Amino acid sequence: MHFPDSFPVPLIVLDETDSTNRYLNECGQVAELTTVVSRYQTAGRGQRGNSWESEAGQNLLFSFVLYPTFLEARHQFLISQFVSLSLKEVLDEFTEGITIKWPNDIYWQEKKIAGILIEHDVQGPYLCRSLAGIGVNINQEVFRSPAPNPVSLRQIIGKETSLPDFLYRVMQRMQSYYNLLRDGHHAEIATKYQNALFHRTGFHTYRDAGGVFEAEIVHVHSSGLLVLRDRQGVERKYAFKEVEYLLI
Ligand code: BTN
Repeated sequence: MHFPDSFPVPLIVLDETDSTNRYLNECGQVAELTTVVSRYQTAGRGQRGNSWESEAGQNLLFSFVLYPTFLEARHQFLISQFVSLSLKEVLDEFTEGITIKWPNDIYWQEKKIAGILIEHDVQGPYLCRSLAGIGVNINQEVFRSPAPNPVSLRQIIGKETSLPDFLYRVMQRMQSYYNLLRDGHHAEIATKYQNALFHRTGFHTYRDAGGVFEAEIVHVHSSGLLVLRDRQGVERKYAFKEVEYLLI
């Protein structure tokens, strides 16, 4: 991976680490938007305590840090929203069919192309640090791990994409969305997120603790709760992990 000298954000390039999230966490107080990217992770972390598999040198594995001390912790989902949007918008430059599967998986059609893991530190009512870790499947051709529905950009467009170029574009967008957030444009970010959602319209099949049901998305609350309306017209609200999308 060769990165240009002028990059939109401070960059640390590694050949191998256990996890870029853990590496960045250990770096202490580095400049805002400092980004750690690694060719390979020996213990990549995913959501729900899962691991994140990626063939060496094939995909983007990176983490960056923010100090959003201006943002109340109750609005932390905006970080998740703009990180997802930045990824979606760069992927839109390569292909159609990219959506954000609530809360922050990036999908192409019914398959997962990127995953996001965000850890927040809070001080009083405000955030003090957010660490966002991102894995984007770029050039991997075959997936062997049991992760459900993986897909890479290469499998979609049929050719290789430069990892440094992709990361450059993503971090440019992260920076401008972060400025938008700092300037208080919460509604703009939330609306864009809403419009980018997977299964944004129509009835689809979900499963919660009570069983399988069909519902449509009403909206995602600013707290991050997913609000669904079932066939009986009843609204159901879910936190992350409380509901599952049943894909065909
Ligand atoms: C998910 O399960 O969807 C989230 C996956 C996040 C993986 C990325 S890869 C770079 C960063 N370092 C990690 O250990 N995890 C994140």
